[in-house]
Amino acid sequence: MRARFVNTTAPALHSVWTRPSRPRLWTCSSCSRLARSTPNRPLALQSAPDQKPYYITTPIFYVNAAPHVGHLYTLVLTDILKRWRVLKGEKALMCTGTDEHGLKVQRASAKAGIEPKLFCDKGAAIFKELAAKALISNDHFVRTTDSDHKDAVAYAWFLLQEKGLIYTKKHEGWYSVSDEAFYPQSVVQPYLDPPTGRKIMTSVETGSEVEWSSEENYHFRLSEFREPLLQFYGENPEWITPAHRMKDVVQAVESGLEDLSISRPSERLTWGIRVPQDNSQTIYVWLDALMNYVTKAGYPWAPGRDNAGGWPADCHVIGKDIVRFHCIYWPAFLMALGLPLPKKILTHAHWTLGGSKMSKSTGRVVDPFLALDRFGPDVMRYYLAHDGGIQDDGNYDNVQIIKLYNNFLWAQVGNLVSRITRGKKWSVRGAIERIGPLPASEWAEGPGSRFYNTLSTFPLNIAESLDAHDPRRAVRLIADLIRSSNQYFQMSEPWKKILEYGPGEPGEEVDRIVYLATEALRMAGILLQPYMPNKAKTMLDQLGVDDTRRTFEYCAVGRDLHYGTPKIDLGVKYTGALFPPLPSEE
Ligand code: MSP
Repeated sequence: MRARFVNTTAPALHSVWTRPSRPRLWTCSSCSRLARSTPNRPLALQSAPDQKPYYITTPIFYVNAAPHVGHLYTLVLTDILKRWRVLKGEKALMCTGTDEHGLKVQRASAKAGIEPKLFCDKGAAIFKELAAKALISNDHFVRTTDSDHKDAVAYAWFLLQEKGLIYTKKHEGWYSVSDEAFYPQSVVQPYLDPPTGRKIMTSVETGSEVEWSSEENYHFRLSEFREPLLQFYGENPEWITPAHRMKDVVQAVESGLEDLSISRPSERLTWGIRVPQDNSQTIYVWLDALMNYVTKAGYPWAPGRDNAGGWPADCHVIGKDIVRFHCIYWPAFLMALGLPLPKKILTHAHWTLGGSKMSKSTGRVVDPFLALDRFGPDVMRYYLAHDGGIQDDGNYDNVQIIKLYNNFLWAQVGNLVSRITRGKKWSVRGAIERIGPLPASEWAEGPGSRFYNTLSTFPLNIAESLDAHDPRRAVRLIADLIRSSNQYFQMSEPWKKILEYGPGEPGEEVDRIVYLATEALRMAGILLQPYMPNKAKTMLDQLGVDDTRRTFEYCAVGRDLHYGTPKIDLGVKYTGALFPPLPSEE
C-alpha cells in the first residue's frame, strides 16, 4: 500500500460539466457518463435550484440475515414521519436501502456458498419486498453496491485525502465483525460462551465477539473534530432525541476521540469499495454505509443543486445501537467534507422478545413477513408505533397485538364508525348540513361544548407531537380522542333523544351529537393515514370524505362540510366492518 496518497487535486464537480475539455485528474464514473451526455452544458443552468424537500432516512440494513421486526419498526417510524409531511402538503422524500459490503456480508455469503453480489441481490430483494408489504412509501432504495453510491464514496475519500485528513498507520485492536467496529482493549472482556464452552473476547458494550487484528491501514483524523463536534452539540442541544442519548454522546466526545481506522487490507476484506488508487485497501464499511444518505440526495452535486435532493437530511431515524456511528463519526465526516449536518437524529429503543434481546444469531427474532400476513400491514404498523419504544425497549407480544385489536381498533374505532354511519335514526349528511355552518360561538356553552373544545385543540396537539418526531405520543393522543368520542356518544344517548322528538327530523340536539362524533372520526381518520394508510382510507371512504379533502389543512372542526355520503357500500354488520373480528387461533 502507498504510504501517502498521490498529491493531486480533487476536481470541483462543475469543472467536469462546464469545461469538459480541461484535463481531469480524477472523475467518478457517473460524472464521466453525465459529462458525455451533456457536453458543454452546465448542469446548474438546466433548471433553477429546486426548493429543498423534507428528507428522512432509515438506516440501511445488513443483508447478512433475514429481516426481523426491529427492522420493520425503523421502517414504519420513518414512513409515518414522511407521510406526516406529505399530509401537511410538503414535498417529502424517504430513503431506505441495504448495507451490502463488509466482512459480515462477505462471511455470510461465503458460508451460504453464494457469490457476494448475488447474495446481496437476494438480500436486497427481501428488504424491498418487506418495505412494499408494509406499505412503506420510500422514494429511494439505496444499495451500497450501486455504482452511483460507489462513486460518491470514492469522491468523498478523494476529498478527505485532499484535505490531509487521511493518513496511514499500523492499527492494532479488537474488531467485531457483527458490529463492524473496532474496539480498544479497555472495552473488551473475556467471556465463556455457554453453548460451545469456547473462551472468547467480547465487546462490553454490545456483547459481540471480537477478534484481534493487527494491520496497516488508513486512518481518519477524527481526533481533530472533538472541538467542532462539541461546539455543534452545544449549539444544537436537541439534535439527538431522546435527550439522554444526546447526553451520552456529548460525554463520549468530551472524554476524547481517537483517530478512526477507515480501511482494511483487501486480502482480508475483499467485499467492499477499494480505496481509490490503492487496490491493496478496502474502505471501512461504516464510512461506505453512512455515505448512502448523501448518495441518493445526489452527492456529489453540481453547483446550485446542493439542496435539490433533500440534503441536509431533516431526520435520520436509527436504533440506539448505532448512535456512535451516526452522532460522532457521521457529523465528523460531513464537517470534513464541508457538507451541512443532518437536522435531527431520532434514536429509538429496541424490541425485545420474552424480555430479552432479539438476536439473529440465536434465532430469537420475530419474522416480520409472518406478522404482516397474520395481522395485516395496517394493524402491524399501528401496533409498532403504539407500543414500540423510543426511550425504553418494548416487548413484542402477539397477545398484546390481539388485545389492541379487540379492545381498541375493533371495539372503539370500528364500532364508532359503524354506529354512526349505519345509524338508521339520524342522517350524517343532514347533521353536517344543518350543524356544520354554525359559528364557533354556538358551542360556547351547553351540551357538547366541552367535547367541541377537545376537538378544536386536538389537531394542534398531534401536529406538535409529530413535528417533534414523536409518532408514539401522537398515536396515543389519537387513540384518546377516539375513546372520548365513544364516551361522548354513549353518554349523550342520541337514540333516547330521538324518542323524545317523535317522528320527522331528529332535532338539533341529536344532530349536534352526531355531527361532533362524526367530526371526531373524520379528523382521526385524516390523522391516522400516516399510521394505517389502507384502513384510514376505508374509514374516510365510509364517512364519504372527498379524496382532495384528506390533508392536514382539513383537519379542523367544520373545515369540510361536503362529506357524509358514504363513497363505498357500508355492507351489513360485520361483513363491511372496518376491523372485522380476528380469526380465532387454531
Ligand atoms: N447496516 C447498519 C446501519 C448502517 S446505516 C448507515 C445496521 N444494520 S442492521 O441491519 O443491523 O440494523 C438496522 C436497524 O435495525 C438499526 O437501526 C438497528 O438499531 C435496528 N434494529 C436491530 N435490531 C432491533 C430491534 N430488536 N429492535 C428495534 N430495532 C432494531 O446497523
